[in-house]
Amino acid sequence: MQEDGGHKDRQKPRVKARVAKPALFCVKWAVQTEPALENIFKKALYERKQENVKIMTGYSFREDKRFHGIQPSADRLWLSSPTMHGEEMDYIKEAYETNWMSTVGENIEKLEQTAAAYTGVKHAVAVSCGTAALHLAVKLAAERLYGSSTGTSTPQGLGKGGSLYGKRVFCSSLTFAATVNPVVYEGGEPVFIDSSPEDWNMDPQALELAFESYPDVKLVILVHLYGVPAQADEIRKICDRHGALLIEDAAESLGALYKGRQTGSIGDYGVISFNGNKIITGSSGGMLLVNDRYSAEKARKWSTQSRESAPWYQHEETGYNYRMSNVIAGVVRGQWEHLDEHIKAKKKIYMRYENALKDYGIQMNPYDGKNSEPNFWLSSIIIDENYMCETLCADKEYLYRHSHGRTCPMEIYDALAAFNIESRPIWKPMHLQPLYRNHMFVTVGGCRNCNEYFYMKKMEPADISADIFYRGLCLPSDIKMTEEEQDKVIDIIAACFHGK
Ligand SMILES: Cc1ncc(COP(=O)(O)O)c(C=O)c1O
Repeated sequence: MQEDGGHKDRQKPRVKARVAKPALFCVKWAVQTEPALENIFKKALYERKQENVKIMTGYSFREDKRFHGIQPSADRLWLSSPTMHGEEMDYIKEAYETNWMSTVGENIEKLEQTAAAYTGVKHAVAVSCGTAALHLAVKLAAERLYGSSTGTSTPQGLGKGGSLYGKRVFCSSLTFAATVNPVVYEGGEPVFIDSSPEDWNMDPQALELAFESYPDVKLVILVHLYGVPAQADEIRKICDRHGALLIEDAAESLGALYKGRQTGSIGDYGVISFNGNKIITGSSGGMLLVNDRYSAEKARKWSTQSRESAPWYQHEETGYNYRMSNVIAGVVRGQWEHLDEHIKAKKKIYMRYENALKDYGIQMNPYDGKNSEPNFWLSSIIIDENYMCETLCADKEYLYRHSHGRTCPMEIYDALAAFNIESRPIWKPMHLQPLYRNHMFVTVGGCRNCNEYFYMKKMEPADISADIFYRGLCLPSDIKMTEEEQDKVIDIIAACFHGK
């Protein structure tokens, strides 16, 4: 906590309190940029130079008087690092001592049983990572919808490959690339759906509009971002009406409830990740959740190189080396015993941030408190438009200019980093990524890159997910963080609003 007072002493910034002359202007450059964007950026820099603004790199936040009295964190404060308890080691040791140092063994069997029972599905298939589980889910859905798990055996796909070859898939735009990439692995075309401001997840209204224009689409991939459940009932109903299958990317939301049901158990296929930063971890690992035996057995077979039941190595389908190791399964098994405790600790962090930051024009990542109970994996903030300082982001670099009473996510990011604290920008939406920015993107107001027959009137659609990216930031949410350390984060954010 800052020596000169707690939160109650901080001045609530006034919206109109802007200094006449810009005081601080930071710029970060990356080495390689696309020339067109670089030109735009250089022009912006040039214009600001004319205003006699100091341009600097490596600005020293620690010497800035706004942060006086705040000491750098002795140990780095992480966004979300693994929290181990001891049981993990017991299960690892068991695997070692019984020599099941392989992709078979008791830890895997027990973990699959635990995952199925906890999430309320009939079958859970342990794999090497969440991305692998998503890939298998996409292949299972494609086989069910289009008749082939590879694409090469269908008349249209002959010789082309990819079970989604030539097919479109509706996907959340505001997410990590792993949600979407498996569609491309299978030759499909992701069409991105905008977020709802209510929960930052796929907007059901935008999805409905997308189906109206593209009724041939038969697959939807929905993410529950940062542990906040999406409006899964509405989305499920829309999918059912249009005969589409639903994959839930619950990589970040293990333990989160939507109308009393676990995320990952509502769609046709669910996916969990045990990546090092998730609510529980195996250092890596993932899980596919399904309700039918056929899908579970198929996924298990594909994940072990598609070996047929024969004395020799017999193959009828393309396979993958996606199975989870029995050692990793031991870590996750030990962690699972502490899942509910992790969720409680994450919630406490979220509530403390919410309480301390509400007076600064900052809101937490929102959720529907009536129908859902998030797992609060990452506490994220969004700065009210009236409290945003001037800022500009290009592909790999950014600018901002401080003014009293205002700040912006990248200033907070830089300030926290200067005090040895990790934060992270909100996932940059997929429709803004160079990889995907020529893909269709559907919002409640229209569509970008859609063909001329799309329903939209000629208008610039509101882009909710881009706005969340522009104004949002993920804060340290590590459950080993002490209250004093969290207060330091809060103090730094508060100081960012003050004048220089
Ligand atoms: C939303 C989302 N989807 C998918 C993944 C991929 O999981 P993994 O890293 O286990 O492959 C992650 C996390 O990394 C994620 O956050």
